[in-house]
Amino acid sequence: MAGETAEIWWLDTDGLDAGDWPRLEALLDEAERVRARRFHFDRDRRSYIAAHALGRRLLSSRAGGEPSAWGFTIGAHGKPEVIGPPGRARLRLNLSHTRGMAVAALTEEHDIGVDVEWLGRQPASDELARRFFAPAECAILAAAAPDLAEETFLSFWTLKEAYIKAVGLGLTQPLDAFAFTLEPLGVRFEPAIADDPACWRFARFRPTPVHLMALALRHPTPQAVTVTVTAADVAMLCV
Ligand SMILES: CC(C)(COP(=O)(O)OP(=O)(O)OC[C@H]1O[C@@H](n2cnc3c(N)ncnc32)[C@H](O)[C@@H]1OP(=O)(O)O)[C@@H](O)C(=O)NCCC(=O)NCCS
Repeated sequence: MAGETAEIWWLDTDGLDAGDWPRLEALLDEAERVRARRFHFDRDRRSYIAAHALGRRLLSSRAGGEPSAWGFTIGAHGKPEVIGPPGRARLRLNLSHTRGMAVAALTEEHDIGVDVEWLGRQPASDELARRFFAPAECAILAAAAPDLAEETFLSFWTLKEAYIKAVGLGLTQPLDAFAFTLEPLGVRFEPAIADDPACWRFARFRPTPVHLMALALRHPTPQAVTVTVTAADVAMLCV
């Protein structure tokens, strides 16, 4: 039945050879190639190319066609949405990229968001937590053992980003009006958000020792959805 599978593909970009990049870039469309050329830093260009190549190949693996042929519209708050193909369930894709890692998440019809962060990105700080997290999340972070503080901080960060990206309203969503718990993984929404935890499936992963990743999927029966996670490589992307 359509929409019952959510696929996550991730690519470790640190392990790629110089010759892999033109092959991945060949999966992009012309506008993305132009955008890729504008990045100042090679590492930013590469994570952008990897994420977009990953997303396009994932779409083609589900629905056929050439990866470079997929088109996207951009929503009012910047969320890209897949165009077509006509006559079948609407494909929903979300991308994330960070140093050394690109991720694409795909489902049909339902809102999906994914976020990946590099653990060395920024040290956990009370100031950042107060700025971005709900009070209950700040309390969990404050109680975490020092050696788990960074992981706890980025777990909240990736979960909140994944939720924001799934909803697609950008940072118009008040970040302190929804609070995650990690053990067990769950969420509580304040009335300002008017959302229902029973409509959501959240998951977190650690694809490498230095990356944390989170998924948010809105679905009427979220626990019935099969979530698959695949470590992609250039051979499977550039067939
Ligand atoms: C725009 C935003 C999605 C950027 O997120 P990010 O973590 O910097 O970037 P990611 O790599 O995870 O995601 C970027 C991809 O998401 C997609 N995207 C862009 N805008 C989006 C939106 N409004 N909703 C969902 N997805 C979006 C695009 O595919 C984009 O890829 P591209 O830039 O290569 O085209 C947004 O959530 C944001 O501005 N966050 C700011 C950070 C912040 O304050 N976070 C608070 C966390 S508690």
